[in-house]
Amino acid sequence: MDMFVIGGGKPLRGRVHVSGAKNAALPIMAAALASDGVSVIHDVPKLVDVTTLLDLLKTLGVRSEWRADGALVLEVVDETRCVAEYELVRRMRAGFCVLGPMLARRGKACVSLPGGCNIGDRPVDLHSKGLRALGADVRVERGYVIAEVDQLRGGSIYLGGPFGSTVTGTCNVMMAATLAEGITTIEAAACEPEVVDLGRFLNRMGARISGLGTPFLRIEGVDRLQGAEHTVIPDRIEAATLMIAAAATGGEVELENVRVDHMTAVIEKLREIGVVIECATNRSAASLPAATTVRVTAPNRLRASDCIALPYPGVPTDVQAQMMALLSLAEGISVVTDKVFPDRFLHAPELVRLGSRIRREGPSAIISGVTQLSGASVMASDLRASAALVIAALSAEGESVVRRIYHLDRGYERLEDKLTSLGADVRRVVDEPANMPATLSVAMTAEPPTSTASVPRPKWLDRPQSVTPGERPA
Ligand code: EPZ
Repeated sequence: MDMFVIGGGKPLRGRVHVSGAKNAALPIMAAALASDGVSVIHDVPKLVDVTTLLDLLKTLGVRSEWRADGALVLEVVDETRCVAEYELVRRMRAGFCVLGPMLARRGKACVSLPGGCNIGDRPVDLHSKGLRALGADVRVERGYVIAEVDQLRGGSIYLGGPFGSTVTGTCNVMMAATLAEGITTIEAAACEPEVVDLGRFLNRMGARISGLGTPFLRIEGVDRLQGAEHTVIPDRIEAATLMIAAAATGGEVELENVRVDHMTAVIEKLREIGVVIECATNRSAASLPAATTVRVTAPNRLRASDCIALPYPGVPTDVQAQMMALLSLAEGISVVTDKVFPDRFLHAPELVRLGSRIRREGPSAIISGVTQLSGASVMASDLRASAALVIAALSAEGESVVRRIYHLDRGYERLEDKLTSLGADVRRVVDEPANMPATLSVAMTAEPPTSTASVPRPKWLDRPQSVTPGERPA
C-alpha cells in the first residue's frame, strides 16, 4: 500500500490541465453495453475506477482498447453473459451502472449489490423502482440484484428520494428506457452535468432523449443504438479540488479545460471566501459553452462562510470535504452541511489531527478557522476525504503523511504529478515504518513525573478550610 509524504507550506504556482470527468466517463462506458458497433470515447481519465470498470465490462463481453491518441475504444463482442460479479462491483459503485443497459439489451442482468461505503448509506431502491416501472421483474437474491424482462415498455417514473434525486439511478433508468417500447418520462431526474453528458452520448448513439439538464426527461424508445464517438466533459470535481488547493496554499494557478458553467456554485462560494477566480471568456460561437482557462489566486487570510452541499446546481457533496480543509484556514466560524450524504464527515477527525478546529453537529460541521495547520500523519477514508487531507497537508507547516491513498487513486488522474508540476512537495512511497518522516515523531522534552512530589499542589488546598459542605472552593 502506498502513502503520500507531503512537505507543506509551498504555494502552488503554474498551469495544469483538468482531466475528463470520472463520473461522466464511467456511465458512458457502461452505455456501450446497450449498443452495436464500435464506440470511441475521448478524454476518459486513466484512473483506477476506469480500469476496474474495463475489467468488469470485459467479463460482460466488451472488448476495449486504448488508442495511441488516448481515446478509449469499446465494442460488444459477446452478449451471452449477464452476471456482474461482486468482486468487481464491490470496488466501485459505478459498476452498478451496467444494470440498466444490460437489462435493456440482453433481457437479463444480474449485478452484485455494490456494498457499503464510507460516505454513508447508499441504497439502490430508486434504481430498482425505475426499472420496475419499465416492466422489469427486479429482485434481490444472495447479494445480487436480478432484473429480467422480455421487452421493456415505457412508463412514468418519479425518481425523487429522501435526499433528492439519484445520479447513477437516473443514468441506469435513462439507459434502460432508450431501448424500451414507447415513451418514458422521468420526473425528479438528476440534473448533474455527468448525467447530461451520458444523455448526449446516448443521443449520439441514436437514442431520443429530451429535457437533459432538467428534472423532467422524456425518452422515446428506439429499436437499436449504434456505437458513437464522444468527448467526455472536463471533471468539475477535479477542477474544484485544484482551485481549493491553490487557494489553501496561497498560490496562483491557471487551470486549463474547465467548464465554468458547471461550477457556478463552487466559484461563487470560493469568491465569498475571498478567493480570486478569473475566467477567460472564450465561449465558442456555437451555442454550447466551451471549456476555458481559469486563474485562481488567494489573499493571505480567507473569510469564513457557511456551505451546504446539495444536488446540482448546488455545491457538490464531492467538494464538501475539500471546502472543509479550506475553511479550516478562514477567519471566523463556518458551518458546513451535507444534504446529500449527511454522514460524509469521516475526514473531520483527520483534519483535526492537522490542526483544524471542527465540531460535528448532526449533518453539519462547525469550523473555527485557525491561522496555520501543522503537519501530521493522517488516514484517508474515501476518495474526496483523501483530497481534503492532501489539500490540508499542502498548506500545513512541516511534513505530513497521508495514508491509504488508494482511495485517491480511484478518482484522480496523476494527482501527485499535477501537484508536483505546480511546485508541491508530494512523494509517493510504500506505507512502511522506514518511510515515516522523522519530523513526525514527537520528542519527549522531559521525563514524565515519577512521584506526586513533582506535581504542584492546587492552591486552594493550602487555604484555610472554611468552606461549608456543598460549597465549591473559589
Ligand atoms: C454519484 O453517486 C457519484 N458517483 C458520487 O460521487 C456523488 O457523491 C453522488 O452521485 C452525489 O452527487 C458516481 O457518479 C459514480 P446518488 P450515486 O444516488 O449516484 C440516496 C465521488 O466521490 N439514494 O445520487 O451513488 C443516497 O443515499 C462519488 O466521485 C437513495 O436513497 O449517488 C444519497 O443520499 C462518491 N436511493 C442520495 O440519494 C437510491 O436508490 C444521492 O445519491 C439511490 C440513492
